[in-house]
Formats: sequence, C-alpha cells, structure tokens
Amino acid sequence: MLNLIVFGPPGCGKGTQSLNIIKKYELIHLSTGDIFRKEIDKGGLLGKLVKKFIDNGILIPDNIVLKELLKIAMEYKDSQGLIFDGFPRTKVQAEMLDKMLLKKGIDISLVIYLDVEQDELYRRILGRNQGRSDDKKAIIEKRIKIFEKETLALKKYYEDQDKLVVVSGMASKELVFGRILKEIDNIINIKGSLNNKFHI
Ligand code: AP5
Ligand code: MG
Repeated sequence: MLNLIVFGPPGCGKGTQSLNIIKKYELIHLSTGDIFRKEIDKGGLLGKLVKKFIDNGILIPDNIVLKELLKIAMEYKDSQGLIFDGFPRTKVQAEMLDKMLLKKGIDISLVIYLDVEQDELYRRILGRNQGRSDDKKAIIEKRIKIFEKETLALKKYYEDQDKLVVVSGMASKELVFGRILKEIDNIINIKGSLNNKFHI
C-alpha cells in the first residue's frame, strides 16, 4: 500500500493536491474535514456534535475524530493506499494512527508537509467560494493559531520517523503537484525495490 499524509496549515492546498494524487495513483482520499462536513449536512447526532467545533475553527475532540476516522480507514484496508488529509492533527491522533497501522501490518509511506506563507493562506481561503462556515477572517486566524499550537509539532514527530518531506506550496497548483509527484515517485522506487509486491 501507498499510504500518504498530506498536512499543513489551513488553505495550504491539502484538499486540492489530494484530489490530484488520488487520480494519478488510485488511492482513497480521507479528509476528516470533508467527512465531518458531510455529517453536518446529514443533520444527525454526530453532525450536531461536531458543528460547533468546525464553525468556531477549533479541533474536534480526539476521541470523536479517532473513532470515526479509524472506522472508515479500516473499510479501505485492502485498497492500493490511503491519503490522510487533515489527519492526524494532534500527537494523540498520530500515535493512535501508528498503533492501528502497526496492528494491521501496514505503515505510512510518506508525510508531505505543504509549506505556504501566511498571507497567501488568507488569500486562498478568502478567495474560495464554497460557503464554508469557517471561512471567515476571524475564524481563519483561529484555525491558523490552532494549527501552530496543536499540529505543527507533528513535523518533528514524522521527521523523527524519517518520513517527512517539506514541499513548497508557493507556486501554481500544477507546479506544486509536480513537486509532490517527484517525492511520491521517489518513495515508490525505494519501496518497490524493498517489496516487489508493491504495484502502482
Ligand atoms: P479541514 O477541512 O481539514 O480544513 P483546513 O485544515 O483548515 O484546511 P482547508 O480545507 O481550508 O484547506 P486545504 O489545505 O485543504 O486547502 P485547499 O486545497 O482547499 O478542517 C476543518 C475543520 O474540521 C477544523 O478546523 C476542525 O474543526 C475539524 N477537523 C478536521 N480534521 C480534524 C482532525 N483531524 N482533528 C480535529 N478536528 C478536525 O485550498 C484552499 C484554496 O486555495 C482553494 O480555493 C484552492 O483552489 C486554492 N489553492 C490551492 N492550491 C493553490 C495554489 N497552489 N495556488 C493558488 N490557489 C491554490
Ligand atoms: Mg481541505
């Protein structure tokens, strides 16, 4: 399996690039933001529970995220691979993901950090027209602060596991995708030479 994590601050291009990657490599895209926004649209209990967190730009508690995400990820354990977009976002989430994957004998192949300057994050999010409840200036500010406080430390977590690559997201979508492809192809070559069962 080719299992990727795409992470970086709000608006850096995680969703955009994940969609490009899944088309090319036929992977399953797991965006926790999208998963919970769908629950909100459904109007059920879980949706009601997470709405206040998303609307306010704060993290949904780890136990809720983990229960939902791990359940969905397991449905795809026989796929070519998964892309985690917006997950993990805390050290607890990262550790739980590692534990779950270890139990199944699979692992994360590569963690891609999309590096984008703060002014550009605001420009991109405010320029997006999807009507997201959290795309307001004050909430974006909060999301960025929370990213720095809770999530940025995962860079070091994955660097210590030798899995992190930092890709500059400061270019057109096409150029950024090209940079990402280079990193993925590099890891496929390394994995392919270690494990000839690896078909992509
Ligand atoms: P989530 O949905 O993950 O949002 P986010 O991290 O704030 O990031 P965005 O989705 O806004 O941006 P993106 O990086 O995907 O960029 P995109 O490709 O859209 O999370 C939302 C909320 O859900 C959280 O605040 C939290 O409440 C909750 N949540 C989710 N996961 C959680 C978890 N694991 N734990 C706890 N809570 C969780 O691009 C942005 C715009 O820029 C688009 O318009 C795009 O077209 C454009 N663009 C992209 N790339 C480029 C480029 N290279 N040049 C110019 N424009 C570009
Ligand atoms: Mg997104």
